[in-house]
Amino acid sequence: MTAFTLDGKKLASELEESLKPRIAALLKKKVKPCLAVIMAGENDASAVYVARKEDACKRLGIISKVVKFPAGVPQEKIIKEIKKLNRDKKVHGILVQLPLPAGIDKAKAIEAIAPEKDADGFTPYNLGLLALGAERLAPCTPKGVLKFIELAGKKFEGARVCIVGHGLAAGMPLAIMLANRNCTVSVCDKFTQNLGHETSQADILISCAGVPGLIKSEMVKDGAVVIDVGTTLVEGKLKGDVDFAAVKEKASFITPVPGGVGPMTVACLMENTVIAAEGIALGRSGKK
Ligand code: GUN
Repeated sequence: MTAFTLDGKKLASELEESLKPRIAALLKKKVKPCLAVIMAGENDASAVYVARKEDACKRLGIISKVVKFPAGVPQEKIIKEIKKLNRDKKVHGILVQLPLPAGIDKAKAIEAIAPEKDADGFTPYNLGLLALGAERLAPCTPKGVLKFIELAGKKFEGARVCIVGHGLAAGMPLAIMLANRNCTVSVCDKFTQNLGHETSQADILISCAGVPGLIKSEMVKDGAVVIDVGTTLVEGKLKGDVDFAAVKEKASFITPVPGGVGPMTVACLMENTVIAAEGIALGRSGKK
């Protein structure tokens, strides 16, 4: 079997198109959606990701505000800035670009974000809503992954899903969101014994390990949907976790890297910014 390649750029551009009337409705109410991104330290991959977020904002007429700090910034300074952005009525979405430099407590920084402005969906409040099965501002990469599974025409209920990697941005929230949809979820990582045995049972295989080439064709079930969330910069090029050429001959649907999950993550971030702006425009606080 040769898999159909799911086009993340096309799907992302359709999602962006669908946001335009919602943004126009906000502008009519004199609300200009604005996303603030906090960056600390120097990281080549983060610089690329943030530039893509800024480009998407520009395409949609969302204001983007990037606040940069040097690597040695004290944690209190970052928290003070987040609190200032929380109070700023002109800012609707806030995110802290990860990874943060050593010495900064990621949990403390994320916890400082007001839940109603939490564009990444990483605050304890919004992650807690996932566990309650009440998704409001859900994390962007998992939202994109769900849209790919829908595009592949795969039913969630009863599907065996294997997730490799359980980080904050993808694997961990995905496991909850897929369980909410009655999938049978197995969560593995690069330390799992006989990983291939686990992955080869899956109707839907999602790799978010950040280990280039980890998923080989013998680890994939015939006809599986394979979604590659891994993005590792290798000699200036983005590499996924999946051995694309070989796995394409075994899967039914596959996402490429680049041009797969990445553009969808950005489009879902734009969607979350619009959801946040709509909520704030209606005077809705996150904690209701
Ligand atoms: N670093 C890598 N992916 C992400 C993401 O989705 N959000 C944030 N804030 N940082 C990231």
